[in-house]
Amino acid sequence: MSESRPTAVIVLAAGEGTRMKSTIPKVLHTIGGRSLVGHALRAARGIGPEHLAVVVRHERDRVAEHVLEHDPDVLIADQDEVRGTGRAVECALEALPQGLEGTVVVTYGDVPLLTSETLHGLVAVHEASHDAVTLITATLPDPTGYGRVLRDGDGTVAAIVEQKDATDEQREIAEVNSGLYAFDAVVLRSALTEVGTDNVQGEKYLTDVIAVARSRGLGVRAYPVDDLWQTEGVNDKVQLARLGAELNRRTVEAAMREGAIVIDPATTWIDADVTIGPDTVVHPGTQILGATSIGRDCVIGPDTTLRDVEVDDGASVVRTQAELAEIGPGASVGPFSFLRPGTRLGAGGKIGGFVETKNAQIAEGAKVPHLSYCGDATVGPGANIGAGTIFANYDGVTKGHTTVGAHSFIGSNSVIVAPRTIGDGAYVAAGSAVVSDVDPGQLAVTRAQQRNIDGWVARRRAGTKTDEAARAAQAAASAARTEPATEPATEPATEPATEQPSDEPTQPKDANG
Ligand code: UD1
Ligand code: CA
Repeated sequence: MSESRPTAVIVLAAGEGTRMKSTIPKVLHTIGGRSLVGHALRAARGIGPEHLAVVVRHERDRVAEHVLEHDPDVLIADQDEVRGTGRAVECALEALPQGLEGTVVVTYGDVPLLTSETLHGLVAVHEASHDAVTLITATLPDPTGYGRVLRDGDGTVAAIVEQKDATDEQREIAEVNSGLYAFDAVVLRSALTEVGTDNVQGEKYLTDVIAVARSRGLGVRAYPVDDLWQTEGVNDKVQLARLGAELNRRTVEAAMREGAIVIDPATTWIDADVTIGPDTVVHPGTQILGATSIGRDCVIGPDTTLRDVEVDDGASVVRTQAELAEIGPGASVGPFSFLRPGTRLGAGGKIGGFVETKNAQIAEGAKVPHLSYCGDATVGPGANIGAGTIFANYDGVTKGHTTVGAHSFIGSNSVIVAPRTIGDGAYVAAGSAVVSDVDPGQLAVTRAQQRNIDGWVARRRAGTKTDEAARAAQAAASAARTEPATEPATEPATEPATEQPSDEPTQPKDANG
């Protein structure tokens, strides 16, 4: 296939799109994580045109801003009050450098499934034939609404007639104009000056260029495509969803062809810019969105939504919601985890069940396994954050940062009040509220000393089942003390408790199982 570069691609996006019934301009609606016009620009860029122009009018500023954000090298051309696709192209030609020669391709901003390959094919056929116009046509089971392709007795394309201008006989024709063309630039420019607005809609039709070219004895060629999806435009929200689903089907299929294992393509949504490595398993109910990239041999899902997330090789991310996060190689996330922007989990690290993280660098091998909030934090390598630990990062006025050093151990149900630094190799006792820094090697404990009050249940809960249970246990214990043991103990008696000075409690218990 010829790889010759067309002189220009003109993308038409000036129409109002009233049937969308939306305050969002039609071409800014998205499928596959990209706007409709973004898809059109991508296909156009793919054939390497010297110039790329987008024609705008309705919601001009919003559309232009979006287009330039997507592709700053696009030329924005404003259509004036004269309506019609012909006028739109004429306005683009006026905005482009004068005297353009070669091939000008015209596409629509609301036809998102068109590919660069199809446009390449169109340009190659057009340039090989030296015809003045080559148009993509499609044969539809229901051609209602489209311009019909009129052919001469010998089969050459004679003209396009719009639905509204067509006779009943012409409306029987199933071959339609898709609205995607390659033109000889010089013919296009001069033919448009001959096109008027004498039709039912009072518009300047681009399609009339074909009859003008034929009247000059120039060649016009149809380039039929079988993949009808590529020529289908979005006019309402039903079509938006229909084309969105088809695009997804194609994206999921492409991911599988690249080596991903998708268990249930029907419930898997993958945006157009996502990459997934080979042998990564994607479980049902999973959405992989935005600029997410996933390495090889990962497990993603079920029921997981990732937006702009980087997942490294061999990681697993189960029943998780994550955005703008990085998950290191072999790391594990979920089930039921919520990773907010700025979360970075190192190699082999863990973010477990019912854990929320935000702006948190959790180093390699560190673990936040259960029921925690870890926000605005740096957690050192190999550190362990016990169940129920809360990083209290907000005092109602400012946000503070917490640092937990390498291989430190935060006991369960602790709250660390930021800004706070816990050094390398330090401990925090379970249930502590940490309000001052902890140095390397220290144990911090802030909870009250435990008191056991004898006989409290008998006095304050007499007659309850609790009281009954206590009495039964006490009776059994005292019987065991008075009667000699019937069998010799098979295990040595428990070792005497290690010395516990009253100011040094037992080490915190981590709830990791
Ligand atoms: C057009 C074609 C028709 C073809 C159909 C395919 C003409 C006269 N008719 O009809 O033969 O079968 O597309 O979908 O070309 N636009 C502008 N400025 C305008 C009018 C339209 O930029 O003044 C843009 C729209 O934003 C849209 C595209 O051109 O992206 C097509 O416009 P639309 O009104 O949908 O054309 P149709 O009447 O459907
Ligand atoms: Ca249309």
